Amino acid sequence: MHQKKLTIPDIRSRKNGTPISEITAYDYPLARMADAAGIDIALVGDSLGMVVLGYPDTVSVTMEEMLHHAKAVVRGIEHALVVADMPFGSYNSSIPQAIGNANRMLKEARVDAVKIEGGVTMAETVAAIVRAGIPVQGHIGLTPQTATSLGGFKVQGKSAEAARQLIDDARALEDAGCFSIVLEAIPAPLAEHITKAVAIPTIGIGAGPGCDGQVLVIHDLIGLYDRFVPKFVKQYAKISEQVIAALGQYKAEVESRAFPGAAHSFTMKTEELDKLTRLY
Ligand code: KIV
Repeated sequence: MHQKKLTIPDIRSRKNGTPISEITAYDYPLARMADAAGIDIALVGDSLGMVVLGYPDTVSVTMEEMLHHAKAVVRGIEHALVVADMPFGSYNSSIPQAIGNANRMLKEARVDAVKIEGGVTMAETVAAIVRAGIPVQGHIGLTPQTATSLGGFKVQGKSAEAARQLIDDARALEDAGCFSIVLEAIPAPLAEHITKAVAIPTIGIGAGPGCDGQVLVIHDLIGLYDRFVPKFVKQYAKISEQVIAALGQYKAEVESRAFPGAAHSFTMKTEELDKLTRLY
């Protein structure tokens, strides 16, 4: 079924409307599946580094790696808005560097928008990218690229003071022109507070039900990454168990010669086979 491609105004108009579904995607088949399910936003997250490339965190992910995977995702999507993460080190040196790399995401990978981690401190950079004509999704709370400075992968905004700072961060990103903001790992009541404080949609991950939408890492949701499953993840499938069982059965059938059987083999005319045997 051909569905209309979603735009930034479509996403903005969902504030206080039907909740927005966002999911990460890193390759062509998963992008196609996300689109077939009618997901609203496909995020080429830099979680790519952990769940696909096997890095210990997201810090090492490069622009080239993001572009390579973003291109594959864009090829698989007809309907969803495609957002790509700006990886660590691609936007924190200067505003021209940030605009240059955001331009690459749109021109080379053809994504619709970029995502940038950080609040008040990144607002000037975000505003410059938006002025350059590139839509930006913000990301505050637990920001994995700078998790070490935040004390690790921990819930953020638990004290009134820290919560106040996150509200300021959200407002700064809204003023900078973000079309939506990801709120990661913050208390549900604070996420509701932030959602009411800004006029752009909030997309929660570990931020409770009061946001304008939700995002999850697809490998967590379908059970394809078994090294660590955060508390806020609901696993809707355990795909890795099915894959391991299928591979085990394949190995056993290869060893017993049960595979390939006649159904998976090609035949040849008897006369040609006879001719062949006479050649020897
Ligand atoms: O990289 C990512 O997957 C993300 C989501 C956790 C929002 O930024």
